[in-house]
Amino acid sequence: MFIKKKIIENVGIITINRESALNALNYKVLKELKENVVLLIDDSRVHSIILTGAGEKAFIAGADIKFMENLNKKTALEFGKLGHEVASILENSSKPTIAAINGFALGGGCEISLACHFRYASENAKFSQPEVKLGLIPGMGGTQRLSKIVGRGIALELIIGGQMIDAHEALRIGLVNKIFSKDSLMEETIKFSQLISSNSPRAIEKSIYCINQSYENTLSSGLLEEVNVFSNLFETRETSEGLKAFVEKRKPDFRL
Ligand code: CAA
Repeated sequence: MFIKKKIIENVGIITINRESALNALNYKVLKELKENVVLLIDDSRVHSIILTGAGEKAFIAGADIKFMENLNKKTALEFGKLGHEVASILENSSKPTIAAINGFALGGGCEISLACHFRYASENAKFSQPEVKLGLIPGMGGTQRLSKIVGRGIALELIIGGQMIDAHEALRIGLVNKIFSKDSLMEETIKFSQLISSNSPRAIEKSIYCINQSYENTLSSGLLEEVNVFSNLFETRETSEGLKAFVEKRKPDFRL
């Protein structure tokens, strides 16, 4: 088993459990990852999902290079497509997905983190898209998502340069949202996941949906989508509960 899964007070935690290879992703690891993410998204006990890596050294050190050495055009397409599928499931999850980056996030590892809704990192985390050093390009969404997160110029510099950056530089360029000490990363990530659990699940889901739509839409069609989703919420119990609770000076209970 390459994946460990547990639930701590409504937070689903997925750990890539392949420490001996720095949690590198081969086909089997990706397949198991996909299955487990789907299980947690469908689990009503789970309000948010954290993805991390086993051990103290790596989040995910990329696609498995030893596995890739034996790929051909056809099998590489299958592998790349599976990577895209996993990333897309994380990105479009109705529940917040958070990468807790506890070490190397390289190549496909960085790319899987980019598909999560946000990224928290430990101070020892290191990031890179080193594919050009292997005669490759990022194959799990890096050419598309990195520039949307850090901007085109920095994405080009990282992908063409293949250089490694530390957590402080990642924070400076907006690649990660926050940095924590190595020992407090999981605790802080769980704490924040629990905090957002008290917000309206439907409003969270719709926020994710509208923001993701902005990848695909023009501004005018995105704004139209937003106003439709916004107004539809007025027909839901969660929205009336949220508004009513404010007026009544009490905490809303969105999960009745
Ligand atoms: N694939 C397969 N095995 C990997 C791996 C990877 N991406 N990264 C590390 N490992 C393995 C090493 O081969 C080693 O295994 P052995 O003990 O059997 O030799 C073990 O993990 C420990 O690694 P190191 O001894 O190399 O550890 P280190 O501390 O000296 O170096 C490192 C760490 C800098 C991360 C180095 O391992 C490294 O450069 N790894 C490769 C990183 C990389 O290039 N990733 C991108 C892959 S391409 C990609 O991801 C394409 C895509 O977009 C889909």
